[in-house]
Amino acid sequence: MWKVLLISLFFISSVATAPSEDGRIRTRRDPQYDVVVSSQRQADCSLALTFIRSDSTNMPKLTVRFDIDQTPAANTHEGEIVLQPGLESETLDWNVPIGWNPPFVVSGVSMLDDPNNVGDFIQVGQRVQHTIPDDGPCVMASAKRDPHMATFDGFRYNFQGTCWYTLVKHCTENPEFEISARFEPLKSNGPEIKSRATAINVTIGDERISLDKDTILVNDQPYWVAQLSDRPRNAHIDVNSDSIVIDIARLKLEVEWDGRKHIFNAAILNPEYHGKVCGLLGNADENPHNDLQKRDGSTTLDIDEFGASWRTPGIRCDY
Ligand SMILES: *[C@@H]1O[C@H](CO)[C@@H](O)[C@H](O)[C@H]1NC(C)=O
Repeated sequence: MWKVLLISLFFISSVATAPSEDGRIRTRRDPQYDVVVSSQRQADCSLALTFIRSDSTNMPKLTVRFDIDQTPAANTHEGEIVLQPGLESETLDWNVPIGWNPPFVVSGVSMLDDPNNVGDFIQVGQRVQHTIPDDGPCVMASAKRDPHMATFDGFRYNFQGTCWYTLVKHCTENPEFEISARFEPLKSNGPEIKSRATAINVTIGDERISLDKDTILVNDQPYWVAQLSDRPRNAHIDVNSDSIVIDIARLKLEVEWDGRKHIFNAAILNPEYHGKVCGLLGNADENPHNDLQKRDGSTTLDIDEFGASWRTPGIRCDY
């Protein structure tokens, strides 16, 4: 996975300890057990911590025990991750607890299973420290399934749209970005319409990335064709097994889309945009009570009226 928002590395220096003849502990550095850790903000504001072996010639089972500390507040998260034999890396998704803010200090130690005492470990690394820098306050919003919407400020509602709508955009005359979604009605057996997000478009400057269930277009060209001319330039697209992640490093914006499950997540890490965005996902000003702001700037308490105002003008949808 490509990482831009925040890349951090630390080395768990491996030091094998063995008593010397006079009984003192002797240490010997064994780079075979070095582990590298990188971290990246996800589109749901969690931090993905990836632990990678730096030596892949011999890959025994390695257990890494670590602490994540928030400084100066005395919050500590203790965790453990196992690199199974032969596996080069392992990723752990850490949901940053509410009220915890970076910088975080991660410190860890790597261990091997003790062959003589089942369940015991032999410490093969010394404790090292690494700081995950403050990457800004992260706010996330989502649209899920038939769509349950959650704004950046945590206001929740259901919305049954039936065309293209603005999920979130930079709320100025010349928006730096806009993300819109196509909602399509599901076949239903009652009078009630249920819809789902079936495609999203992410526009950054002069580039538009369009995603649906299984295609990725950049300015209407298939992604692989666009890549030949180094497009997209404004974002990085990461294709994972179950989702597509669009990372807009310059804006500190992260978008995740799972077209098969109709799940959309977006995280804004740039405080400059907090309160300066608008759309179905609200204004990200930390107040959930003013999120139903229509396209014309006025507010409403009616979800349907609010939703209809964010329909993309000039596009026809025939359902
Ligand atoms: C989204 O992108 C697709 C493919 O380029 C395009 O057909 C569609 O009209 C776009 N929707 C909006 C709202 O711009």
